[in-house]
Amino acid sequence: MTWSHVDNKWPTDGLSFGADYNPEQWDRSVWREDMKLMLEAGVNLVSLGIFSWGLLEVADGEYDWTWFDEIVDLLEENGIAIDLATPTAAPPGWLLHAHPEMLVVDHDGVKHWPGARLGWCPSSPVFREHSLRIVRALADRYGARDHVVMWHVSNELGGGNGHCYCDVSAAAFRRWLRDKYTSLDALNAAWNSAFWGHTYRDFEHVLPPRGNDSKNPSLVLDFDRFSSDELLQQYLAERTVLKEIAPGLPVTTNFMVGAEQDAVDYPRWSPYMDILANDHYTRSSDPLPQQDVAFSGDRMRALTTDRRPWMLLEHSTSAVNWQPRNRAKRAGEAVRNSLSHVAHGADGILFFQWRASRGGAEQFHSAMVPHAGRDTVVFAAVKELGAHLRALAPVQGSRVRQARAAILFDDEAGWAVQKGVKPNNELSYGRPLRDWHRALWERNIGVDVVSPWDDFSGYDTLIAANLFVVSDQNAARIAHFAESGGTLIVTPNSGIVDTDNQVRLGGYPGAFREVLGAWSEEIHPLQVDERFTLDTGWTGTDWTEHVHADSADVLARYVGGSLDGAPAVTSRTFPSGGRAIYVSAGLDSGSVAALARSVVPSIGEPDLPGDVEMLVRESDTEAFTFFINHGSADVSVPGTGVEMLTDTDIVDFLDVPGGTVRVLRRPRT
Ligand code: GAL
Repeated sequence: MTWSHVDNKWPTDGLSFGADYNPEQWDRSVWREDMKLMLEAGVNLVSLGIFSWGLLEVADGEYDWTWFDEIVDLLEENGIAIDLATPTAAPPGWLLHAHPEMLVVDHDGVKHWPGARLGWCPSSPVFREHSLRIVRALADRYGARDHVVMWHVSNELGGGNGHCYCDVSAAAFRRWLRDKYTSLDALNAAWNSAFWGHTYRDFEHVLPPRGNDSKNPSLVLDFDRFSSDELLQQYLAERTVLKEIAPGLPVTTNFMVGAEQDAVDYPRWSPYMDILANDHYTRSSDPLPQQDVAFSGDRMRALTTDRRPWMLLEHSTSAVNWQPRNRAKRAGEAVRNSLSHVAHGADGILFFQWRASRGGAEQFHSAMVPHAGRDTVVFAAVKELGAHLRALAPVQGSRVRQARAAILFDDEAGWAVQKGVKPNNELSYGRPLRDWHRALWERNIGVDVVSPWDDFSGYDTLIAANLFVVSDQNAARIAHFAESGGTLIVTPNSGIVDTDNQVRLGGYPGAFREVLGAWSEEIHPLQVDERFTLDTGWTGTDWTEHVHADSADVLARYVGGSLDGAPAVTSRTFPSGGRAIYVSAGLDSGSVAALARSVVPSIGEPDLPGDVEMLVRESDTEAFTFFINHGSADVSVPGTGVEMLTDTDIVDFLDVPGGTVRVLRRPRT
């Protein structure tokens, strides 16, 4: 069971199934029961040791490997593979006590107390030294073990230490700026720092954006970039040690890819991951959690250029514990979500965590084995899922079929949208992206959520929503997409600034004005209780603009209000047949769906009954069609082949009972 970059072998035979395993909380008799239950459920991979630093290095340079040796042996005896974690997410108490300078300082200058995890400053040299020492010790001891099949670096980097504003970070930020700009003149120009007389005379005068006093959006965006880079340096430093000791093992870290930007710029990190891995949790307040699952999968898949399968390292069997009110999952929901991740390209499904804790910070978080034990709905669902994943083994390595549409996602744009003073300071970055995704996802139109620097060939539709920051080069590539025959849809707040976070002059949206054949002279944000209506009947909130349609047709105009009669949605057509559509107003999701129906017509996507989502994964020789019935009614869908979860031959029609998933296997035609 070894992995090699050459043959790209997946770390487990078939799909991976398991959890974060934190046995240190339990005595040996529980470990033995764990093994029994893991085998009963079909678990074949666990993430081990994620937060164990304090139990492995019990004092400075003093190690206790006995319990870890034992658990590694036990897993090995039971044939369960190990995704071995570097335990650097949680530094031990003795280290924090000896070096409190490594603790994160927040933007108000408050130093965080020990007591949680990821409380270390990413730029701290003391942390770097100690963390690499434990990584080396761990890799030396376990890197050659047969059942250690991959490395899990730290945990959700950026989750607790996305930004640190301490003096060490300030000095590191200044070094980063010197590298980026070389001269102060270049920095001053990029930051337009002459405004308020803030021109810098010495790099030493530059500070992180501490408190609420630092309002220069260019500085703030650079600090966000720097912060992501500092965390990446920690990841790369750990990866270098691991590769030196165990070059054949894949290295990854668990991302938190969802529909909003994160502290970490994942697309810029993904080239350094041997296997892409994600943690995804649905929110109790989300009216459509299944679409959030789809969105994150559509984003994960597109983080590699060859759309490689990825691994879901964490999600929950039922309720989480970190929301005001934590909804327990409904019957079938965890299995359906898991199989939906597989349909979207995941080749591994793991949970946080194996056994629910009795005490500690996450004692009321669900797990594969709940507090109530084995004879429970949750554990029955875990076993059912294990059986399904075994049945789906042939799917491993196949790729999700080429999507028709692409939605652009960029963390930098998200950072810039959310920070700095704006015409409307209450907009989320991800909301419009999710609305456009939903409009296509509901019609089973395949979508990839891609980066602005990706290759757009293969798509017929490209959506730039809230793409506030865009480089000249990427703007030109996006424009070329429409000019050469694609349908480009640009929504409000896109192309407004350059990569220095400075406004592109001459009318919004500067980067796309020319390709759209339309421009806006002023943004008219709406108040919380204001709404607008268009002559097509479409409605919306939050955002309107005074648009001029120079060389574009008007698809919809305002009715009433200060922009009465002015264009709200325009479309320019090119001789190639391509179109550039400007949606300059904040349409409601229903209106987005209506507009999408007219500008992105279906081309043979099946019109399935009820709430059935369909995705196809393909290998060289076979096609695997997933039907995910999110509704409660039983439905019948057209299809022929072998249904893999029930092992049934299907001719013409397949029944998909309410709330279940069915997968048809057939040769590729
Ligand atoms: C994740 C984290 C896990 C666990 C989980 C609970 O963010 O990586 O360790 O805390 O949340 O939902």
